[in-house]
Amino acid sequence: MKISIDEIKFIKELYPRFELDNETVNAYRNAIDKLPPITISRNKILIDGYHRLTAYRLEGRKEIEAKIFDSENEDEIFIEAIKANTKHGKQLSIKEKRNLAKDLYKKMVRLNGASKVKQQDIANILSVSQGTISHWLSDVIEKEKEAEAQEILELYLNCYSQGEIAEKKGLSEATITNKLREAIFNFIKSYKIKDLVSNLQFYNVWRTFGLNEKQLKFPGQLPYDLVENIIYYFTDDPVIEPNLKLSKVVDPMAGSGVVRDVCRNLYRRYLLYDIEPKREDIPIEKNDILKGFPERARGADLVFLDPPYYNLMDNDYPDNEFTESYESFKESMGIVFDNCKEILKRNGKIALILKPMNEKLFDGEWLDMSFDCANIAIKKGYKIIKRISAPLSTQQFNASDVERAKKSKKLLNIHRDIIIFEKI
Ligand SMILES: C[S@@+](CC[C@H](N)C(=O)[O-])C[C@H]1O[C@@H](n2cnc3c(N)ncnc32)[C@H](O)[C@@H]1O
Repeated sequence: MKISIDEIKFIKELYPRFELDNETVNAYRNAIDKLPPITISRNKILIDGYHRLTAYRLEGRKEIEAKIFDSENEDEIFIEAIKANTKHGKQLSIKEKRNLAKDLYKKMVRLNGASKVKQQDIANILSVSQGTISHWLSDVIEKEKEAEAQEILELYLNCYSQGEIAEKKGLSEATITNKLREAIFNFIKSYKIKDLVSNLQFYNVWRTFGLNEKQLKFPGQLPYDLVENIIYYFTDDPVIEPNLKLSKVVDPMAGSGVVRDVCRNLYRRYLLYDIEPKREDIPIEKNDILKGFPERARGADLVFLDPPYYNLMDNDYPDNEFTESYESFKESMGIVFDNCKEILKRNGKIALILKPMNEKLFDGEWLDMSFDCANIAIKKGYKIIKRISAPLSTQQFNASDVERAKKSKKLLNIHRDIIIFEKI
């Protein structure tokens, strides 16, 4: 196919150790109509034939015969160009070959997955032995293996089955199981509660937790340490013998996704949903809890419930069935308890976080969400197995709030309940 010479792009990295050889160009100019076609990619990047192209340019030609390498993928173009260009030009140094071997390997892995890369292919391209390639790549392969093991663990923690991961990674299910066992075994071996749960609580009145400095700021977000204590106390620790077993936590109103961070740290599996996912960097699936759960959520050990409330939260979230009125809040919670029953295992638990409060900051009706929700849950077939007081910081009130409260003989509310239910 004839291609306009001006459209052809030359990328230096595709020509390691390239130096123009004038003698070759002159010889080509003398045989200009007998030269084989150059090779370019679909997006007109020159893959092979720089001397021929130069000869054509110097002869004042506008077009050149070119074979098209049918790809626009940068990695594929790189590999194809290196294959063609290491054969001519100046001899590459050992260091250059070693770096190229690593580049080729990484690109081949990216294209086809580590299991499909043959070191012999790289050895052939660079004209060295397979043993040399194996030696050069040992650290890259080690890192690659670690990254792969981490990726497998991440997928498993995000509730992908071992079969699904095997398919995704192009590996056997047995390999996936082994890698998971190893990762979880290492975790268990180095497991020290004290280091793991930084602010472990020992009584059922918890200290006031602030937002952790690593947490991104989202309205209505729970402190990491509070979530960590809940997950630690109300799910089982990982087990590998006789079978792999990690607790499964489902958060249907995930907000900022703090539950995910905790679950990854404690090696619990997690699934996050929200009617309006607020982050794209972590897996939060769009789902309306009032309509039920996706199939994947079945088999939960713990459902983490941190719903938006009627009144004070009005400003943070658009009005919906939870925030419209106290009646609609309670009605919605009834639906939530029903839907949770569908996905919870036998004896599965719900951790419900609530803040009973007055309708207004000081006045209005006392809305005892904890009491009311507990009654609803009991009617729906749950029992309460623990109640924890997790107070809010007094810092949410300013001096004038306190002054006003004193004058009007009102108590300011910093009470927050965590109620743990078990499905009967
Ligand atoms: C109090 S926030 C949760 C905060 C979260 N625990 C955190 O620490 O970031 C309540 C969340 O419920 C979500 N939500 C409201 N109605 C919902 C519904 N019907 N289904 C699912 N999520 C809903 C809101 O979008 C909001 O992100």
